[in-house]
Amino acid sequence: MSASAQGALSHCAGVRVRHGAKVAARHEARLLWAGNPGLFALLQAARHTAPIQRFPRIGWVVTDPVLARRVLNDAACFGMSEEGGVGHLWAQLFGPRMGALFGGSRHAELRARARDLFTEEGARTLVERSQGEHYRRLAERLADGETIDVADAARVLAGRLVADLLGLRPESPADDDAYREIFAAGERLARLAMGTTASTVLPAERIRRARLIVDDITRGVEEGYRTAGPETILGRCREMGLDLPLTRGLATLLAIAGTETGASGTARTVALLHDTGQQADLLADPGLMPNAVREGLRVTTPAPVIGRAVLRDAEVGGRLLRAGERVLLLTYLANNAVGPFDVRRAYVPQTRQLWFGAGRHLCLGAAVARTQIARMLETVTAAGPYRIIGRRPARRVLVPAYASLRVRAA
Ligand code: HEM
Repeated sequence: MSASAQGALSHCAGVRVRHGAKVAARHEARLLWAGNPGLFALLQAARHTAPIQRFPRIGWVVTDPVLARRVLNDAACFGMSEEGGVGHLWAQLFGPRMGALFGGSRHAELRARARDLFTEEGARTLVERSQGEHYRRLAERLADGETIDVADAARVLAGRLVADLLGLRPESPADDDAYREIFAAGERLARLAMGTTASTVLPAERIRRARLIVDDITRGVEEGYRTAGPETILGRCREMGLDLPLTRGLATLLAIAGTETGASGTARTVALLHDTGQQADLLADPGLMPNAVREGLRVTTPAPVIGRAVLRDAEVGGRLLRAGERVLLLTYLANNAVGPFDVRRAYVPQTRQLWFGAGRHLCLGAAVARTQIARMLETVTAAGPYRIIGRRPARRVLVPAYASLRVRAA
């Protein structure tokens, strides 16, 4: 091939890549806007500001990945159990003892005792046990030429995971509606945390409603706590001497932490791979799967904001943050600064895996989340390339997500 023909080909490929990136970015922006307009506005406002900046009513806002990690790694100066952190929300629901579990030696012990359940191997076991059959059914339906709704499937799968973790046994385990309802209950609970960007203090009425939802989703915990084996979370809590109320709190945390984020990241990664045209790369080289999963998590950043309370005066990026102030880490912007979704992008040392946080609260379910996304990508590509034939963003949700993402084998 002549040099000019080669140049023309690579120009065409470049145009296609840029076009794909634009299409993907447009869909992502629509999702953020529909799901959480306040978050969308904050991300727009902070996009071109300094790496750390003070915003009226909100507090300090960090958009730089290295500074964000600096905050997350400094537990002495930045806490999550006080006003501004997610632990503060949990303490209002389950009492100060639950809040205390987010910090100190008890927190470290809890993580250490649960770690083996959440290794790569543990994650594969959990995902296969709770979801394996469902992925196989989805792949069969696609191979038969049916359309599947990946967003709905991701919610059912998340519900199945929660049912496993919380010892819930729906009357008819083959009925997906039971798992949709578990997901919906988690979503209702998470929605009660919406609007806490400026303050994490919950009004009494919201706490009352949240407790009703918790009573409902933890209805299987008591029996699980008494009977489950040590290979389960509930059994492990009992063996550690945690009492039933604390076990209910922890089980709820586990169930909620990975539900909306997991379903959102899964469906959005399926969409990104399609919109950028990069499913062809993955099909040609399945060894790119870990990259595809990592890039999906980086670009979608399903937990787009992490909050912390400033416990002691601290300097971050040349600014002095005072005890009592709040800091919001806009991980969505921090992770996306390096560029669009690219299955061939090498590991980015600045961000590492900031989509899972960092430091002592680094996501416990990271391996589970990665396994779920990989299983879904394997499922939708099992019969060759796939096509998105319809999509609809979710409205008014804590985590921006697809309400529907209809996919068919191409
Ligand atoms: C794509 C999916 C997920 C994303 C993006 C995600 C993200 C995060 C982030 C950012 C944090 C840190 C929050 C902070 O520092 O304030 C976190 C913590 C946590 N996540 Fe995940 N998560 C996901 C899935 C899961 C799953 C599937 C589980 C459980 C099966 C899970 C369990 C947890 C737990 C227990 C914590 C609290 C850890 C601690 O405080 O020590 N997550 N997650």
